[in-house]
Amino acid sequence: MVELKHLTGLRDLSRKDIEDILNIALHLEEVCSGKKVFNLLENKVLTTLFYEPSTRTRLSFETAMHRLGGKVISVADAKTTSSAWKGENIPDTIRTIDNYTDAIAIRHSESGAAEMAASYSRVPILNAGDGTNEHPTQGLLDLLTIKKERGTIDGLKIVLVGDLKHTRSTNSLTLGLSNFNVELTLVSPPGFETSQWILDILKKRNIPYTRTDDLRGSVKNADVVYVCRIQKERLADPHEYDKIKGTYVLNRSLLEGASRIITVMHHLPRVGELDEDVDDYPGAAYFRQPFNGVMVRAALLAILLNRVPESF
Ligand code: CP
Repeated sequence: MVELKHLTGLRDLSRKDIEDILNIALHLEEVCSGKKVFNLLENKVLTTLFYEPSTRTRLSFETAMHRLGGKVISVADAKTTSSAWKGENIPDTIRTIDNYTDAIAIRHSESGAAEMAASYSRVPILNAGDGTNEHPTQGLLDLLTIKKERGTIDGLKIVLVGDLKHTRSTNSLTLGLSNFNVELTLVSPPGFETSQWILDILKKRNIPYTRTDDLRGSVKNADVVYVCRIQKERLADPHEYDKIKGTYVLNRSLLEGASRIITVMHHLPRVGELDEDVDDYPGAAYFRQPFNGVMVRAALLAILLNRVPESF
């Protein structure tokens, strides 16, 4: 069974680790939807410490904790409502909060912030997104979504489209997928391509990938298309955004050029790159994805707090 002290990224997780996490998540599905009561994390406290805005990640961590009978303390806007506003740094904040809690989910604008937090924390750290580096719980929920929607991850042709340079979700998803037998197509505007360190890992793990600007041609042959938004808040020059917004928009007409139903995913929020005319397309999975986030985060909390039942 997978053993984790912290979860700061997917880079070092094996296929077996990922499969264990997804299987535990599947065991917790009915608990996460409230159909079954299972107070696995009774008497445990999670802190959500978010220095950047969030809807899905923070609320699904908190839902997971509540569904498992645990409690949550939360800082939703740590830059302005915690003592970070007075100049407190991450090491001091973590060495304070770990007196109050059994686990900390942290989101921060700096790449490496979760790793730094883990190096100071006496309780497990879960990376809820650090700069342009990783968003491992999103990567895992995306893998779970693919498994649930397609029945398997192996053998699939997966297209990632959008700002692959600044999107930490696609970094983590790509690292997770690199443990499986998949073919990747990476579609991005010039200057927004997948970072070299991710490509190096794909090469090392013999994962076939193609980089192209042909969205229509890529979609035609895909099993899964994963759309991501331009990460406007991470661009040094805001005019760059105006130059490339709308470059790639996935819409119904592109999907209907394919011979089979494609699974369409998006980490959300969307801001124009995924047309609303896709919402009632049979393969549109992006409003089912957020529930899988509750399942995966529940599984991770159970693992990190050593509460996975032997029967799982
Ligand atoms: N997918 C994701 O991280 O969404 P939030 O920013 O709303 O948490």
